[in-house]
Amino acid sequence: MNLKGRDYIETQDFTVEEINHLLDLSDRMKADFRNGRSTLWLPHQTIYLLFFDKSTRTRNAFEAGATQLGAHAHFLDSSATQISHGETARDTGIILGSMGHGIAIRHDLIPGAGNSYMREVADATDVPVINMQCDIDHPTQTLADLMTMREIFGKNLRGRKIAVSWAFAPSYAKPLSVPQGLITLMTRFGLDVTLAMPPEYKLMDKCMEDAHRNAAAAGTKFEVVDDMDAAFENADVVYPKSWGAFDLMSERLDLKTQDQLRRNEEECLKLNAKYKNWICDDRRMKLAKKEAVYMHCLPADRGNEVTDAIIDGPQSVVFQEAENRLHTAKAIMAATMRERPF
Ligand code: CP
Repeated sequence: MNLKGRDYIETQDFTVEEINHLLDLSDRMKADFRNGRSTLWLPHQTIYLLFFDKSTRTRNAFEAGATQLGAHAHFLDSSATQISHGETARDTGIILGSMGHGIAIRHDLIPGAGNSYMREVADATDVPVINMQCDIDHPTQTLADLMTMREIFGKNLRGRKIAVSWAFAPSYAKPLSVPQGLITLMTRFGLDVTLAMPPEYKLMDKCMEDAHRNAAAAGTKFEVVDDMDAAFENADVVYPKSWGAFDLMSERLDLKTQDQLRRNEEECLKLNAKYKNWICDDRRMKLAKKEAVYMHCLPADRGNEVTDAIIDGPQSVVFQEAENRLHTAKAIMAATMRERPF
């Protein structure tokens, strides 16, 4: 299967067969990494990592992964580039594309802004553009999540239930892209998905429609509830995490000053505080199956989204999931970045 030159912006852009190919390649990358085998698939290549938001796992998965593939990753903080003076997505795409072999972007905090920015960059260049998290999807995260589930339950996930639930966090209004990425991807891979959230925390209509359509096409279930307990009942995987209120976060498209954005963030957190009892604790974990696993993309708000006993306990697979960010990032870069003669 040849994915050279393809942009990896949403998992919806890829067929089940193509995603399975990336998962198999990720398994191979992991085995090679564990056994100390060389993976110099992209010698002398350059990928630009452009961040409009902070990161620990994604940045390091791509930087370490690029090195391990024989490539070099340039870290670009958008605020330290001419983007902060208004340079356009198109110009940025043409210029970075002319100097390198791939562009990866994180732009995730403003509904309506990140995905469209990436697609503008992608339209301007023929090197692949990889989404390191946007407002719609976090497709490198959900690929690692799916890889982790396959490692735990086997490749056939049909009939397994995943509870994707909102959870309380006081730290910051988190993007919607992880739950949106989970409901759209997991419904295509045999899992029955239950989404739970309080009324203010709806996800984007497009993602909800995709999830319903995917479930119907794959013969899986997608249900929506407003009760965390109901979602956890009989689940094989629980994935409770916080995200910001869509209506409040959408206002950010029109906010111009740092002061307006700070006030918007405060409003988001004030609303979150209405739902402090949405926590993954021992009582809730017991509602899931005995062999159920706890997953989280991290960072987790310990003591708020989840108790220490659960995230550090025997059912937690968060560090396996985090390590798999490396192997999946390598697979995506190796599969999509174009070889150019030197
Ligand atoms: N899960 C995740 O994307 O982590 P970072 O924000 O640290 O990259």
